Amino acid sequence: MSIDRTALVTGASRGIGKSIAERLADDGFFVVGTSTTDSGVENIEGWLGDRGIGLMMRVEDSALVEASVQRIFERCGDVAVLINNAGITRDSLLVRMKDDEWDDVIETNLAGTFRLCKSVLRSMIKARWGRIVNVGSVVGRMGNPGQTNYAASKAGIEGFTRALAQEVGSRSITVNCVAPGFIDTDMTAALGDAQVDNLAAMIPLGRIGSPRDVASAVSFLVSEDAGYITGETLNVNGGLYSA
Ligand SMILES: NC(=O)c1ccc[n+]([C@@H]2O[C@H](COP(=O)([O-])OP(=O)(O)OC[C@H]3O[C@@H](n4cnc5c(N)ncnc54)[C@H](OP(=O)(O)O)[C@@H]3O)[C@@H](O)[C@H]2O)c1
Repeated sequence: MSIDRTALVTGASRGIGKSIAERLADDGFFVVGTSTTDSGVENIEGWLGDRGIGLMMRVEDSALVEASVQRIFERCGDVAVLINNAGITRDSLLVRMKDDEWDDVIETNLAGTFRLCKSVLRSMIKARWGRIVNVGSVVGRMGNPGQTNYAASKAGIEGFTRALAQEVGSRSITVNCVAPGFIDTDMTAALGDAQVDNLAAMIPLGRIGSPRDVASAVSFLVSEDAGYITGETLNVNGGLYSA
C-alpha cells in the first residue's frame, strides 16, 4: 500500500464526517476515519475500501487519542490533514443544565479539538506542511436558546483556530474553521417537518444544507489552492448568518 498523504477525520461514521471522509478519499488522500463503536469502524472500512482505514477513538479520552494517533503514525505515516469534526449536543436551558451536560460538550467539541491538534502537530511541524480544519457551527456566532454549552464550545473553536494559525503559519501549516448552518444529519433529525420548513424559510438559499455542502468547503481548505488562507472561518450556512 503506498500512502501519499494521510487525512484523519474524526467522527467519520455518519453525517458530515462521513461526507468529508468520502470527499477526501475522492480527492486522493488516504483517509483514517474514526468512530466510537466497533460497528462504526467496520462500516467506515467497508465504504473506504483500500482508500483508508477505520479507527476507534473517543476524543474526550486523552490516552486513547494518543494511542490511536500513534497507531496511525506506525501504519500510515505522518498525518498531513486533520479534520476535527466529532461533535455532540446536550441541549438544555441554562437554568436546568447539569454540570455533566456542560462538561461533556466542552470536553468533546473543544478539548477534543485541542487534543487532536496537539497529537498531530509535531509531525506537521517536522514535515513543514499541514492542513487543519476544525468544524464549528453557525450557533457559535448566532447563539441559540438551549445551546449555551454547544455555542460556547463552537465559539471557542473559532478562537482556538485563530490562535493556532498564528503559532504554526511559519511552517506552512494552515488552520481554518468551517462553520456549518443547519445540515441534514442525525444531529438535526429530531427536528419535525414543520421546524425544518420554518428553518428553510429563514435561509436565503431556501433549503437545509447537505453534508456534501460542508465536505466541498473542507476539500477546498485542505487543497494547495487554499495555501494562503489561515485563521479563517468559512460559513457554510446558505446565507443564514454572516457576522
Ligand atoms: N448537523 C448540523 O446541522 C451541524 C451544524 C453545525 C455544526 N455541526 C457540527 O458538525 C459536526 C458533525 O455533525 P453531524 O451533524 O454530522 O453529527 P452526527 O451525525 O451526530 O455525527 C457525529 C459524529 O461524531 C462522532 N462522535 C460523537 N461523539 C464522539 C466522541 N466523544 N468522540 C469521537 N467521536 C464522536 C460520532 O461517532 P459515532 O457514530 O461512533 O457515535 C459521529 O461520527 C459536529 O462537530 C457538529 O457540531 C453540525
